[in-house]
Amino acid sequence: FHLFWLSFSALSSVSSSNVVEEIHRSQFPGNFLFGTSTSSYQIEGAAYEDGKGLNNWDVFSRIPGGIKDGHNGDVAADHYHRYKEDIDMMSSLGVNAYRFSISWTRILPRGRLGDVNHEGIMFYNKLIDYLLLKGIEPFVTLHHFDIPQELEDNYGSWLSPLMQDDFAYFADICFRSFGDRVKYWVTINESVLYAYLAYFTKLYPPGRYCELLGECSGNPILDPISAVHNMILSHAKATSIYKKHYQPKQGGYIGAVVSAPMYVPYSDEETDHEAAKRALAFKVAWFLDPLIHGDYPREMRRHLGNKMPKFKPEESDQMLKDGLDFIGVNQYTTFYAKDCLNNLSSPQCDVLQGFVHATPENDGGFIGEPTSMPVIYVVPTGMEKMIKYLKERYNNKPMIVTENGYPQENLGIGSQEDLLNDFKRVNYHKSYLSSLARAIKDGADVRGYFAWSLLDNFEWTYGYTLRFGLHHVDFTTLKRTPKLSAKWYTSFLTGNNTNT
Ligand code: NOJ
Repeated sequence: FHLFWLSFSALSSVSSSNVVEEIHRSQFPGNFLFGTSTSSYQIEGAAYEDGKGLNNWDVFSRIPGGIKDGHNGDVAADHYHRYKEDIDMMSSLGVNAYRFSISWTRILPRGRLGDVNHEGIMFYNKLIDYLLLKGIEPFVTLHHFDIPQELEDNYGSWLSPLMQDDFAYFADICFRSFGDRVKYWVTINESVLYAYLAYFTKLYPPGRYCELLGECSGNPILDPISAVHNMILSHAKATSIYKKHYQPKQGGYIGAVVSAPMYVPYSDEETDHEAAKRALAFKVAWFLDPLIHGDYPREMRRHLGNKMPKFKPEESDQMLKDGLDFIGVNQYTTFYAKDCLNNLSSPQCDVLQGFVHATPENDGGFIGEPTSMPVIYVVPTGMEKMIKYLKERYNNKPMIVTENGYPQENLGIGSQEDLLNDFKRVNYHKSYLSSLARAIKDGADVRGYFAWSLLDNFEWTYGYTLRFGLHHVDFTTLKRTPKLSAKWYTSFLTGNNTNT
């Protein structure tokens, strides 16, 4: 403990000279949710236990070349068996909320084709009950990138409207089974980003899967568009069920989580200003505008014209009526956007979205300090800007920061000390929280903040080579060890992080 305080005060003095602002719990409302975030496939493991069915990541991670170093989520952080230890860890951390997701194939191993798996229900019952016993609010995501493989094989999952009823059916079972105790629901995590990676860049299944097997068909423009369309309507169906049958009795809230990188113009040219607006529409408003304003963003229609589907009047009405109660915001970084509408065929131009992601590789210069993950730069001001963008576009609908975190490369054997002394992560969280506090002071209705992640885990196509955890996981022994960032979070939450 003493050693920690010594190193912690050393860190504080370094950081204050590096102008990382100090941030205090008192700068946030008393009832603010402060937590950590995870998702089922990334932490649970037990991939073939207790009746769980095969999901898209179980299948994809078996195909050579799909995931860095051939990793998979079979064991992950073994949270399925260690959930109590992990909740005890959260309790020591001092958080009052925990965001996790429910594995669809633990509940419905074969999608709607088979029965409900009671062992799956039991696992989440135990998890939720133990969280509540420890005074931690469960904050539950229904779809966080993992779907029953059976639905992929049968009809192409999100590309088919059939998925809407499958998702609504799954959601209904979860509301019925857990809604007496779960008061915060997220339907879908980062729908647009998922559709983009799955069907446009083809880095996630099923796109990557078909590329590796050399069996790709499909259209990289129309497929992401239909996948997102089906996701929006799936959200709307699940939300209507919740609002009609569960919310009146159970009294909770339902929302969706968007990936929300900030975009700023690459230059002062008017066209780059337009490109930044278009980028925000494509990344963030694509999913939210229909649910809050009843239709797709005008910036998208302007670029894609009649490639964009139309909502039926009754669908728009239903969305406007039931939409969502809060916006979940995953905010990590900021990019430059540079126009390329006049040069759509240039290799850097994203033809779907009509702008160039201007990063150092394509000569935009660094926008902030780079991290071990090529798509994350440290740009704390982006948090305040994104919250302001959402506040203005959606009339200050309640927002919750559902993810914010710092990636660090796994440096191999002997690197544990460096990984534990993660002062860059501490500075990241501090500076982003300061930026968030400014947005709140300015009137934004933000109700919570979740750090990604509770512990190191399976980072999708990066496998275990990137670590985001406040707790270190030794993936051989599965031992958890708090990093400096975990200790800092506790001191922040208990109001003990005075800047001395
Ligand atoms: C967003 C995703 O929701 C999560 O699954 C992922 O691990 C983090 N970003 C970090 O890349």
